[in-house]
Amino acid sequence: MTAEKDLHALLATMHPELREGEYVYALWPHGKPLAGAISAAVREAEGLTVVLPRKEADSLGLSYDFVAAWITLQVHSSLEAIGLTAAVSAALTEAKISCNVLAGFHHDHLLVPVADAERALEVLHELVSANGEHKPAPELVLRSEEPADRPAILALTAAAFAISPASGEHVDGEPEEVKLLARLFECQEYLPAFSIVAELDGEIVGHVISTRGWVGELELLGLGPIGVVPRLQRHGIGTALMNETVARANTAGERGIALLGSPEYYSRFGFVPSTSLGVAPPEAGWAAHFQLLPLAVWPGGVSGTFRYADPFAG
Ligand SMILES: CC(C)(COP(=O)(O)OP(=O)(O)OC[C@H]1O[C@@H](n2cnc3c(N)ncnc32)[C@H](O)[C@@H]1OP(=O)(O)O)[C@@H](O)C(=O)NCCC(=O)NCCS
Repeated sequence: MTAEKDLHALLATMHPELREGEYVYALWPHGKPLAGAISAAVREAEGLTVVLPRKEADSLGLSYDFVAAWITLQVHSSLEAIGLTAAVSAALTEAKISCNVLAGFHHDHLLVPVADAERALEVLHELVSANGEHKPAPELVLRSEEPADRPAILALTAAAFAISPASGEHVDGEPEEVKLLARLFECQEYLPAFSIVAELDGEIVGHVISTRGWVGELELLGLGPIGVVPRLQRHGIGTALMNETVARANTAGERGIALLGSPEYYSRFGFVPSTSLGVAPPEAGWAAHFQLLPLAVWPGGVSGTFRYADPFAG
């Protein structure tokens, strides 16, 4: 399951649930191996804090002050989600309910004073409905890029490629794709109808560009870079941009689209290794990562090496 990052969706679907029983924070005796029904533990220089059912603490003779009810937010929140904890604690603070938050790998957990448990659930349910009542989700608009969009497009490309798709590592400085895109905007092989932005609520959240490329004299499209703002990745925006590109290419009578990327992702749009269609990648090492989508008027009998727009050479 993909972890949810969008705050609005997280709040609308957080399904707060009260666990049975009462829980306490206690210091675990130094040197004693962990045992029993411990629900959470935090190691600090001063010792090991455990959160466990009150009954268990009583039977182990551990002392405690704070007796809590345990509420789990059932939504699968991403550890990178921004603002969920802040929104939940702000609502509880407003209701004058104190709250300790524990983040597990899958869910967030709130420990509130036992006496406030029911009221805390009410506050959380109000937060759910306040976020569920919003207007229908804004519609994704796909349109051709306009020159005024370029700073926003370059910024989103920098954010999308801040982690290199090839290595998975953080990129130092400006990603190569930003420089490439800036040059593609200015090159002879630029095709205005194939620089497409995805806009959500007036914000540019995705972009794809295809420029003229060739195999011998045969004109094809070379797709890339494609990027989606990190916080909205895996919400279908990349798919929408790919489908729009393919639809526009078919309408324009283009023969085929070439790209370098993950076969796992692009095969879902019908891309196949270019060599299976007689087209060698510009660099032999790209192998199956260099892919081609033959469009309705793919001519067949094609043989040669794909050549990208000039800026790719750099
Ligand atoms: C790649 C990218 C454009 C896809 O756009 P997106 O809006 O996130 O993708 P979608 O929501 O349409 O599709 C998501 C699906 O594609 C898969 N997917 C996304 N990127 C993938 C990748 N690089 N390799 C394999 N699968 C990938 C996801 O697992 C997800 O699959 P699921 O629906 O089965 O869970 C976007 O994630 C992005 O900008 N990534 C960073 C830049 C980048 O890698 N660009 C492409 C370089 S070739």
